[in-house]
Amino acid sequence: MLDSNFFRYTAAKLHCDKVSLEELAATFGTPLFVTSRRSLIESCQTFEHAFKELPHFTCYSVKANFNLAVIGTLAELGCGCDVNSAGELYRALQAGVAAEKIIFAGVGKRADEIVYALESGVLMLKAESLSELQAINRIAGELGQRAAVAIRINPNVTAETHPYITTGDSKEKFGIDEAELPEVFSLLASLPHIKLVGLDMHIGSQIFDPEYYVAATMKLLAMFKASRALGFAIEFLDIGGGFPVTYDPLKPATPIEQFAEKLIPMLQPLGVKVIFEPGRYLVANASVLLTRILYKKSNHTKKQFFVVDAGMTELIRPALYQSHHEVQSVTFHEESIVADVVGPICESSDFFARQRSIGAAEEGELLAVMSSGAYAAVMGSNYNGRLRPAEVMVDGSEVRLIRKRETLEQLVQNELL
Ligand code: LLP
Repeated sequence: MLDSNFFRYTAAKLHCDKVSLEELAATFGTPLFVTSRRSLIESCQTFEHAFKELPHFTCYSVKANFNLAVIGTLAELGCGCDVNSAGELYRALQAGVAAEKIIFAGVGKRADEIVYALESGVLMLKAESLSELQAINRIAGELGQRAAVAIRINPNVTAETHPYITTGDSKEKFGIDEAELPEVFSLLASLPHIKLVGLDMHIGSQIFDPEYYVAATMKLLAMFKASRALGFAIEFLDIGGGFPVTYDPLKPATPIEQFAEKLIPMLQPLGVKVIFEPGRYLVANASVLLTRILYKKSNHTKKQFFVVDAGMTELIRPALYQSHHEVQSVTFHEESIVADVVGPICESSDFFARQRSIGAAEEGELLAVMSSGAYAAVMGSNYNGRLRPAEVMVDGSEVRLIRKRETLEQLVQNELL
């Protein structure tokens, strides 16, 4: 069971803050994402506290959870945003984030996205190739602007995590290779509509060992020195995101303070502003996916299944990355059974847990799939004609609907017969 200050049993019922998950399911239906606003605030404050000695700016990586109320809560705490598309930029602006607190990333930005970012007045764009630098220069020129740009470097550090979420390795598509930097610097000298303001990296996600950050930051620092020697006025060093969270109580995440302890002494003497782009760290453990048990069944091998009303369309992480999510019965049961928790989608990979010991709940009872705040709803789909679920935010004893459940009409509204 995950140790959480925000999702706890009170009188044998799982609550989010002061609100019973059973009541939320009765009011809003299932599947339902339930987010604790206080948990978001606590994660953000813990992160900020760890890095308080370092002049820095935290840009929440919106891709982890782009609900407007989630972005808005983190923005109220002072965060800017890291966005990866026109859609994410639009969301951040709609959530009330000032454009000058938004940084625009992405390995494949379209021209219209570059126009949108520049016209909105974002803090900077992060360029990932020589061709992209030329495109930004041309578009900025057409708009009569000088675009503030950071170069995303590929530090060629292979962080130990799931292979689908490592990004700082030279065989991956991300960033500009170290070897190409001399070419970048000479190209920049001929691009009048670009102002190089930063260097950036992002080595992957859910990285437990701070040493990977140390190794990559060393490379970033070497490039920082080289660029300064060439006369570029670098104002920002962007370390990216990737800080870990605990999904499985048996594999607790390295505390953020251990990352800060290593990084602060390396970065503080430089006299630049450091940018962090945490996504998962801020939101993963702030939400659960609440789902109802439709059927209990066992097959020939007497293996037990809980068939629930949520599936990989709401949380694809177990199917895509074999990731672990705790599953807790909403009513506490002394007895437990070993079962697979599976969804209603026509795919064998549609499961949340396999052969897991779970409270001996009955059909019609609720289960909570824990740690569903990051890369869950945002990676959802309408596969199998599924409707995107509702989302609520809880703050103490207050509940706010932050996303309405999709309707059948909405499912086909953009289609033409
Ligand atoms: N900055 C950049 C440039 C990124 O590409 C990412 C994540 C982040 C920041 C935030 O990383 P975080 O702090 O959340 O680790 N869907 C996968 C994770 C993909 C991460 C993609 N990039 C998952 O569910 O594990």
